[in-house]
Amino acid sequence: MTARKLAAGNWKMNGLAADLAEVEALAKAHPSPAVDVLICPPATLIAPMCTRIAGSAIAVGGQDCHAVEKGAHTGDISAQMLADAGATNVILGHSERRTDHYETDASVRLKTQAAWSADLVAIVCIGETLGEREDGETLDIVGGQLAGSLPDGCTAANTVVAYEPVWAIGTGKVPTLDQIAEVHDFLRARLEERFGAEGAGIPLLYGGSVKPSNADEIFGVSNVDGALVGGASLKAADFGGIIEALERAE
Ligand code: PGA
Repeated sequence: MTARKLAAGNWKMNGLAADLAEVEALAKAHPSPAVDVLICPPATLIAPMCTRIAGSAIAVGGQDCHAVEKGAHTGDISAQMLADAGATNVILGHSERRTDHYETDASVRLKTQAAWSADLVAIVCIGETLGEREDGETLDIVGGQLAGSLPDGCTAANTVVAYEPVWAIGTGKVPTLDQIAEVHDFLRARLEERFGAEGAGIPLLYGGSVKPSNADEIFGVSNVDGALVGGASLKAADFGGIIEALERAE
């Protein structure tokens, strides 16, 4: 099985109603992309974004969900609520969530199961810090996060894995192509070991300072099936350039 290609945008805590014009422009510029395209805006914009781009090829996702369906959890949002608002995907275990909200592999695993219960695709994020890389621990760290954050039952249809080195997020620093290849080849082998043919089809995204100017070379790396893009997903022109680079990739 070959993994499908996915360009995913993570707006993080950015975006007001006026910014929906960007996603409308993106939908107009890319009416039938040759790859999957997803935007994950803040939760407040999920429903209005779905309305604004209804009928387009762009899917909409959340940036986090709670592990349970409903209840006394002030300020949280469940996977069912995201789906009800029109989301089809949810980012889980992003390093900013792991840092700001003390999320662990165990909590990410529960959230992944919650996402599946709501028929959402879980985009599970992993990645090492600069210190861990400098200490030569990258593969141990990402291997541990992968094992701990993914529940049994991952398939090519219900799960995406995003490798995002913490030190590359929002910094303009990008690992070398060899460093990206080393991690992606390792993750692919681990996914196949655990999930068999399904593991071969789980899309593996690279994330961290992806821009139109470096997207072609990153998408040329083995086992890179797309990108999770922060800053460069906010403007239609930038994200459009990344979508086009992924369309060009073999
Ligand atoms: P960046 O963020 O593209 O702004 O580096 C990536 C991410 O955190 O998903």
